Formats: sequence, C-alpha cells, structure tokens
Amino acid sequence: MSAAPAPAPGPGSAHAGGRADLLIVGAAQLITAPGAPGDAPLRGRALDEPILLEDAAVACVGGAIARVGKTADVLASFPEARAHRVLDARGLLLAPGFVDAHTHLPFAGTREMEFDARARGESYESIAAKGGGIESSRRTLRATSQDDLTELVAARLESLVVQGVTTVEAKSGYGLDWNEERKQLRALQRAAERSPVTVVPTFLGAHAVPHEFRERRGAYIALLIDEMLPAVESERLARFCDVWCDKGIFTVEESRRILEAAKRHGLGAKLHADELGDAGAAGLAADLGAISADHLLFASDEGLKAMAAKGVVAVLLPGTAFTLGLPYAPARSMIEMGMAVAVATDWNPGSTMSSSIPLAMTMAVTQMKMTPAEAWMAVTANAAAAVGEGESAGRIQPGYRADFVLFDGGDYRHVPYHYGHDHARVVVCGGAVVHEAGQSSRCC
Ligand code: NIG
Ligand code: FE
Repeated sequence: MSAAPAPAPGPGSAHAGGRADLLIVGAAQLITAPGAPGDAPLRGRALDEPILLEDAAVACVGGAIARVGKTADVLASFPEARAHRVLDARGLLLAPGFVDAHTHLPFAGTREMEFDARARGESYESIAAKGGGIESSRRTLRATSQDDLTELVAARLESLVVQGVTTVEAKSGYGLDWNEERKQLRALQRAAERSPVTVVPTFLGAHAVPHEFRERRGAYIALLIDEMLPAVESERLARFCDVWCDKGIFTVEESRRILEAAKRHGLGAKLHADELGDAGAAGLAADLGAISADHLLFASDEGLKAMAAKGVVAVLLPGTAFTLGLPYAPARSMIEMGMAVAVATDWNPGSTMSSSIPLAMTMAVTQMKMTPAEAWMAVTANAAAAVGEGESAGRIQPGYRADFVLFDGGDYRHVPYHYGHDHARVVVCGGAVVHEAGQSSRCC
C-alpha cells in the first residue's frame, strides 16, 4: 500500500485560486486507485496498492474533480472563502462512489418461494426446469406495465444512492422477446433520466432460450441476431450485449454468433461465463476481446489465462455463490495470474437478491480471501473499467466525474469489516450532494 504522492495537477488546475462548487475538507482518510483517465484496470499486485492519504480534501468544479490532495494543498488552490459549499469530513473516509458492474435491476417481482425451495434441497437448475427461474420472472414482467416498471427501477436507483452507489450497470433479460426486453431497457432509460446515478444499460436477450423455443433454439438465436440487436442499436437502448454462456444455457458457438453480431451493431461484449459449469465461456471472452466475463465459478485455468492475456476484466459475484451454495470464484489465483478483478452484486430476484456492494466486499474478503484494499479497487476503478466507465468513474482524480462518498468509520477497512451496516453518510454525484444520512445512522 503506498502513501499518496501529491496528485499531479489535472485539468482542474486551470482553476487554481479558483472557486470550487463543492469543497470537501479534512477527511480522516482518502482511498483511490492510482492512475489517470485512460489507464488500464489494476491487475495483480497493483490491486493491493491503492493511494491512501490522511487529512484529505477534494475540490469540484462543474461536476468534475478539479483537485485532490492534502487539505492544506487543496485549500491553497481553492480557498474555503470562495467555495460555493464546504463540507467538513473530519472522522470520515473519502472514497470513490461504488460502481456496481453487474445487476439485473429492471426486474419485476421477487422469488422468495424459490429461496424456500432451495432451503429444502432443490437446486437452481431443477427449479428452472419446472418453469421457475427466469421463466417465472418473465411472467411477472409481462404482467407489469411500462410505467410501473419504470417506477420500480427509479425506486431501486434511489436505494442504491443512499448506499453510495454512483454508477450501475443494469441488464434486461427477463423479456426474451423484443417488446418485453424493450420495456426493461426503456424503464432503465426513463428512470436514469430522473436519477443522479450513471446507468450503463446492457441487452441480455440471450439470458435463456425461452420455453416456446426449446425445440427450435436456432429460431430464437435468429430472432436475437436479425431483429432484436438491430432494434437495440436503432433505438440506442444499450451499450453492451451480454450472453449467458454456460452448461445447459447457450453454447460457446451460439454465444460467439450472438456477440459477433452485437459487435456489428456497435455493442460491446459481456458474458455470464461458466457460472454453473465449465462451458469454455472464459476462453470465448478472451477470443472475442469482451470487456468483461462475469461469474467464472467453474472457468478453466486455460480460459482464465487467456482472459488475463487479453485484459478481459473478471467480474466476480460472491453473492451468487453465497446464495446458491456454490464454490466461490478463485479470486486469489486470478489475481496471482495478473487478471484485472472486479466485484459486483449480480442483484437479481433469483440467484442473488442483494444490492449491497459493501456486503459483496465483505464476502470478497472473508470468502474469496481478497484484502480489503483489493476489494475496494474491485468495486471502484476496476468495476468502472468493466462497464466502459474507467475514464470517468471509479477514481478520485482530477478530470474524473465528481462521484464520491463520505463513509463512517474513517478507515477503508472499516466498511467491509463492519458488515450489515450502511456506512455512507454523504453521497456526491456529478459534484452535487445527493444524499446526507441523519445522525441516527452513525456507526460506532
Ligand atoms: O446472474 N446467471 C444468470 N442470471 C442470473 C440469474 C437469473 C435469475 O435466476 O433470475 C445470475 O445469476
Ligand atoms: Fe447476472
């Protein structure tokens, strides 16, 4: 872990002696990834070497970070007297806003009956085979109006802000026909317009083969390629296309066809990869130059090495292993292999009904044996890289969007250590304070 060098003056230094829209001063500790816009995600040992700084301050101008460093240094460029608003961060940790790099947020309805069934010994796969699982969420989605779905998504975004999430990736995938997939993507778009959170939308029409296509999978793949992907592009509803490439879901060859078509429509590639078995999805992610491959519980060493060589971000979702009782992804050996590792929630009504990034960090530390510093880098800088936001989110550095959070505890290790408690006291998105917690939530 390195002490912070005085951060290099960035674009904001043009405002030296200037007026900050928002000035945060006196933070007990600041944590952020080293590096600047354009840098690759952190790999290997670098994940455990964040910048840590005591008595830290940050100045924001026009929605971006203008200056960060020791309080006295920041104040020399941005005097308190000239700032529009000053916040005293004594006793608090100053950290980048969380980036949740993998969610299924525009879902309708919950599936606690499946949670109960799994407690009685049923598996995720056997529940799905009986018409539960994704098909069950599909039925609920169909019965939900566009407006009601938009309101659900808006409420979920609000619940994320108060935890300190400032960027979230969110997937469709419970429609499996264009009208319903579009309903999910539009709900995301409309709710995002009203929210300070940056939403990165992903088209996951290849989440499952819908039951009515079971005997003619090729026809569904043709529908995805010939009708849905062109519509996603023309209606500008997503930035990425995701495919669940796994044992019993989509094969490597099917996934390759879908993701190559997606690329032709301007969408980046993502994969739900090797979650239930080794289907060769990690190797496919490397072949395709996907931005990320997620889950990877059963990925082969060969596939992981290929991902490391290509710089594909491994998005690990410990909540899924926790919920389904599966083995955790081998985070330690991934880091030792030089992979860029991110951690996210996988928030969805089936395998992971949790929106808590801090809890995912705790699981990363206690179950996957990552260090608290690695867990922080995995939910900030590397998570931003996994969703194509690495140049604007996930770091407190000049030139980045002013998305950051003041957390109780005053020490970055406190957040994953004191689990089950919400530590976000002040949340800033684009330089605006969007949440301030009351005194009653202060942690001890
Ligand atoms: O990421 N793996 C695929 N999709 C989800 C689960 C979807 C569901 O059961 O609703 C996941 O675990
Ligand atoms: Fe998922």
